[in-house]
Amino acid sequence: MGKQYKLIHCTVNGRAREVMVDVRASLTDLLRNDFRLTSVKKGCEVGECGACNVIIDGECFNSCIYLAVWADGKDILTLEGLEGPGGEISDIQQAFIDEAAVQCGFCTPGAIMSAVEILNEGRLLSDEEIRIRMSGHLCRCTGYENIFRAVKKTMLKRLEARQREQGTGNREQE
Ligand code: FES
Ligand code: FES
Repeated sequence: MGKQYKLIHCTVNGRAREVMVDVRASLTDLLRNDFRLTSVKKGCEVGECGACNVIIDGECFNSCIYLAVWADGKDILTLEGLEGPGGEISDIQQAFIDEAAVQCGFCTPGAIMSAVEILNEGRLLSDEEIRIRMSGHLCRCTGYENIFRAVKKTMLKRLEARQREQGTGNREQE
């Protein structure tokens, strides 16, 4: 095999993977073509629209401008990795449905991965912060407000649930 291929090891949605990659290929192509993770969408393919976003070692990236070889040793999460053990969808996916933040759905997986990055920080973001953090996504359908509401609602729900848990923990210790 020529020098244009390299063997890499990575974890994708919790599963260890070993794969030979073309050094010119994008992570989008690796995820879609080799692993059939088709939630990763090809929109602009130049890092402008956010449709291809995935989480790499906890940080959201445009996978279209991230070379597949750079994924060596990395932990990658795509929308498929949010599925619960019984096939259930996550709270943020449900919120997108409830808030009508999904119409054609093309931007949705990428937008949800940015939301996951925000939610995993486990802190209260201002409205402006949420809007800035979600600003890397182009959506032709929703007008963005519904996406914003879905992210904010899930953030508040998770923070409230954590507060309740901490309250229960404190009472148990008394
Ligand atoms: S397809 Fe990657 S940012 Fe648009
Ligand atoms: S829902 Fe259609 S592009 Fe966002």
